[in-house]
Amino acid sequence: MRRRALLLSGTSNPPLAAAVASGLGPPLGQVEINRFACGEVYVRLVDSVRGSDAFVIQSHSYPVDEMLMEQLVMIDALKRASVGHVTAVIPYLGYSRQDQKSLEREPISARLVADMLTTAGADRVMVIDLHTGQIQGFFKIPVDHLTAVPALAAYVGRRYPGNLVVVAPDAGRGKMAQRYARQLNASLAFMEKARSVERHNESLPLGLIGDVAGRRCLLIDDMIDTGGTIIDAAEALRDGGATEIVAAATHGVFSGRALERLEASPLVEVVVTDTVRPPEKLPPKLSVVSVASLLAASIRAAFQDRSVSAIFKELEATADAADG
Ligand code: R5P
Repeated sequence: MRRRALLLSGTSNPPLAAAVASGLGPPLGQVEINRFACGEVYVRLVDSVRGSDAFVIQSHSYPVDEMLMEQLVMIDALKRASVGHVTAVIPYLGYSRQDQKSLEREPISARLVADMLTTAGADRVMVIDLHTGQIQGFFKIPVDHLTAVPALAAYVGRRYPGNLVVVAPDAGRGKMAQRYARQLNASLAFMEKARSVERHNESLPLGLIGDVAGRRCLLIDDMIDTGGTIIDAAEALRDGGATEIVAAATHGVFSGRALERLEASPLVEVVVTDTVRPPEKLPPKLSVVSVASLLAASIRAAFQDRSVSAIFKELEATADAADG
């Protein structure tokens, strides 16, 4: 008997969910999502899900705990309604920066989130550009770790051809910077960043390894939250003689006054994806590359038991062709 695919969405990013659904074909499944007066999350699946292969798409964006809880209770509802198989599709995984203890008596919250998703009943997880690849090991279920780097690099390659240096703003982004540099045929530079362990979201760039004077720089990161990391790094590059500085990051979280601060920074353009719902009206420096087709292709492959990694090879080849 043929399995039925079912795509359901929480409330974090309806435009992305709709775009993924239109790439897949069948419309989004209907879910009632409400809040009790006290703030508790309530969901109810409108139609039968019995035996189906469900994909629950939800980014853990602001307000992160509510968005996470919505996804957990949706998975629970699916399991209790005799779904066949559940994949938690998480374009942006919340708590992923809390993947180790930096101070004594801290939790490892990313591991707790992995356990919560598994306990709720997820059979598989699909995520995009985790803060660190090792987070995959926090899950005892299969993880499809997708990347938006080929799509972002292709965009940058078209907009800023040639004379490019890819800059990692901290030690953790070295591998990601190499992927960009390979695709863009660019050279590399690395910055060193000190982070305050007591004050979250505060960082200080310490040094730069590489040649940026007179060059166009592409600063990359997995996410931009307050903008502190990328803005401090951009200022350091400008002071180091870079002629033009562009930023690319997968997750545009943009907390607080981040967008305003980015507009006032030395960056000429900030490119992110729509893993986190972008503002309705984009500020002049902000550009968005959609991950909808990446997600639709990956969901289709997972549903058909085909290789998901083969999709990257296809996408990289397409991006190369588009650049060349
Ligand atoms: C940290 O290691 C991450 O890769 C990002 O650099 C960081 O989370 C960005 O946060 P913010 O924009 O607040 O500096």
